[in-house]
Amino acid sequence: DETQRLRVALLEWYDNNRRDLPWRTSEEKEEESVDSRAYAVWVSEVMLQQTRVQTVIAYYNRWMEKWPTINHLAQAALEEVNEMWAGLGYYRRARFLLEGANKIVKEGGNFPKTVSTLRQIPGIGEYTAGAIASIAFQEAVPVVDGNVIRAIARLKAVSTNPKDSVTIKRFWKLAAQLVDPLRPGDFNQALMELGSTLCTPSNPGCSSCPVSEFCSALSLSKQDSSVSVTDY
Ligand code: ADE
Repeated sequence: DETQRLRVALLEWYDNNRRDLPWRTSEEKEEESVDSRAYAVWVSEVMLQQTRVQTVIAYYNRWMEKWPTINHLAQAALEEVNEMWAGLGYYRRARFLLEGANKIVKEGGNFPKTVSTLRQIPGIGEYTAGAIASIAFQEAVPVVDGNVIRAIARLKAVSTNPKDSVTIKRFWKLAAQLVDPLRPGDFNQALMELGSTLCTPSNPGCSSCPVSEFCSALSLSKQDSSVSVTDY
């Protein structure tokens, strides 16, 4: 059906255009365990919540050099973690990473693998839980950030205020219907990447967009005008 064709088109675009970021699996890292991948996704996604990809890369690499595993992080002092976070802002997020590592290690060191168990870790909300579960553990759950909201708002021509809680729930529901059940992590990252590169707030690159044929806003010539699009 149409959703399946959209998934295939978006994933093909992602496969050909994905950036080689340090927290993404590559050929030579494929033997890395799923738990260490979960840790990498966790740290990177928390950093990415407030900071651009280009800035996060250096912070991420320094962090991983100092605390390569969750066991290393669990032994860190809060002052060290804060020092490492300097410049990223929202220090509460760094403290949550440390507290979360302490909790996971204390409970045996196995990374929680589903959205519902991940949500029990301090500081892990719906976004971070969805990112870890889908990217590291292939759980077919959605991830919704500002980029995803804008892309879905256009695809489905949602024009209600995206800051309104009822509309936000609607985006999570739409994203849950879209996510590819076989490659949920790649699909979610593809949608985020689409929103940050082509499906931009102004002058969206519709002529290069892999899913333009499925885009309701484009077919209505409303790609430049919906409320959701200007708000995010
Ligand atoms: N923005 C936040 N997390 C991302 C990810 N995993 N891929 C692309 N963009 C992102």
